[in-house]
Amino acid sequence: MRILFLTHSFNNLTQRLYVELTGRGHEVSIEFDIADSVAEEAVALFRPDLIVAPYLRRAIPESIWRQHVCLVVHPGIVGDRGPSALDWTIQEGVDEWGVTVLQANGEMDAGDIWATETFPMCLAKKSSLYRNEVTAAATRAVLAAVGRYAVYRSGAFRPRPLDYADPNVRGRLRPLMKQEDRSIDWQRESTEQVLRKLHAADGFPGVRDELFGVPCHLFDAHAEYRLRGEPGALLGRREGAVLRATVDGAVWIGHAKRADRDDALKLPATLAFAEETKDLPEYTVPLWREEEGDWSPLRYHEAGGVGYLHFDFYNGAMGTTQCQRLLAAYEFARSRSTKVIVLLGGADFWSNGIHLNLIEAADSAADESWRNINAIDDVARAVIETGGQLTVAALRGNAGAGGAFLALAADEVWAREAAILNPHYKNMGNLYGSEYWTYLLPRRVGMARARAIMQNRLPLGAAEAAREGVVDACLSGDVAAFTVQVVARAEALAAAVDLAQRLEEKRARRVRDEAVKPLAAYRDEELEHMRRNFYGFDPSYHVARYHFVRRTPHSWTPRHLAAHRDIDWGTGRLKAVKP
Ligand code: COA
Repeated sequence: MRILFLTHSFNNLTQRLYVELTGRGHEVSIEFDIADSVAEEAVALFRPDLIVAPYLRRAIPESIWRQHVCLVVHPGIVGDRGPSALDWTIQEGVDEWGVTVLQANGEMDAGDIWATETFPMCLAKKSSLYRNEVTAAATRAVLAAVGRYAVYRSGAFRPRPLDYADPNVRGRLRPLMKQEDRSIDWQRESTEQVLRKLHAADGFPGVRDELFGVPCHLFDAHAEYRLRGEPGALLGRREGAVLRATVDGAVWIGHAKRADRDDALKLPATLAFAEETKDLPEYTVPLWREEEGDWSPLRYHEAGGVGYLHFDFYNGAMGTTQCQRLLAAYEFARSRSTKVIVLLGGADFWSNGIHLNLIEAADSAADESWRNINAIDDVARAVIETGGQLTVAALRGNAGAGGAFLALAADEVWAREAAILNPHYKNMGNLYGSEYWTYLLPRRVGMARARAIMQNRLPLGAAEAAREGVVDACLSGDVAAFTVQVVARAEALAAAVDLAQRLEEKRARRVRDEAVKPLAAYRDEELEHMRRNFYGFDPSYHVARYHFVRRTPHSWTPRHLAAHRDIDWGTGRLKAVKP
């Protein structure tokens, strides 16, 4: 089928659906929801069989839904309506939630129901819930609905009208959640209540509050079970976060966006409030922790001859200091007498490369970009040069740009079926990229395919990545089930009779590769391009980063996504896709 996505952006869910539907042979083209007339033009050009709206913030124009079946993904159970579906459900707490695919009509979220899927709820950040449970359920529901569309055309399927008289319809219309609904009373609320509010607002819009008497929005909360203090008091700092006491414990606040400055960005809380937090006590935790209890992005533990290194940085973004800390943690892992090191990244993102917000906030964005790319390159080199252990990158979540290439530095890459890879840099203002990608990608897929992947700038599902050899294995299941498989496979690697031989072959290959072209030469060449990106006359990277970190709404759909917009250069007019 020819399927047009009408969407606010090419977000995680849209990328996943793109991968799943194109993988099933459908022809998918994308138009960002910019204006009714632009959407109408896209429909006229593409002449789709079906329109899917994975992530829309406005209604589809009547001129489109009257003529075409438009399937809208709503992150709520049947009957739930409104723009704050996940916010309400996280804040209020329910056991089960769902995703519904409904047909657009004149009333927002009230169209006929094509498919619905449910999932058990857990106390998690909205952004995380969306990337995991919601995306998984939405994928199942959209695939079911698309399957039903053929039956619909033959007249044998009719979608179910929304009927609030039906006792199975448990959802209802909820208003937009406002900041008054989110406000935290630090003198009265428990850790769980505070977490619910911060989680319900995570990603966007955050909870409006005050730190040090300054209005700001708070993000990225983690429970603290040991340290306590006067409710509302700021108790300490750790890894960029500040600790604030609740009535029965405390909460780490990882990120904040000041509201007293027009151009403020979402930053680690101790950077957003650098002066105010500098004298707070630093509560460090050991890197080696058997249990997950104490929050810190970096954690190491061992079992069965395998060392596991977690680096769960917010949004997968890795600034200069974070890369340096990661490198130190990795060097520790390397110094151990383990047989295998598993690099687990974070649960939602394995890594998204250099930290664009920190770069944007720096006095010199070019200098900070340079420091950051060198720091992440140092991590990649340490992984590539590890001779004493086999290394595995286990991608529980997505990896993008430099983060995707950092994963390829490992000997083996195992990706969860739901993980999406974006192994390319060009979307960030034509950035050339480093992280030794010119060594790591061609050795896996060959030069021609490497070039195509970098040029196409499209997301790659784990299954396709495994078929192409970009990764070595695609493993099914949710994060927990994936982790169980990773542990079993890593322990099997560590116990394998041919381990010594594999290590010997790996060291020999590195020596051979180094003789053909030293790692330093790859890095120098890449960094020469990057130097031009950072310091050269063309400001594309700085402009793209500016818009990315500020989440500027799109004003056009990039051509590599809008396949239906093929300029006829002879006439300068848009020409329609082939019939
Ligand atoms: N630095 C800082 N923040 C980053 C980031 C990075 N490298 N990559 C992602 N983020 C942030 C986003 O700003 C967003 O922030 P929010 O919490 O304020 O909404 C959040 O992570 C989620 O990103 P989003 O783009 O919504 O996720 P996605 O799953 O839809 O898309 C990517 C994933 C990787 C395609 C996309 O985030 C991206 O292009 N990232 C930039 C990668 C890059 O160019 N890195 C630099 C070169 S190495």
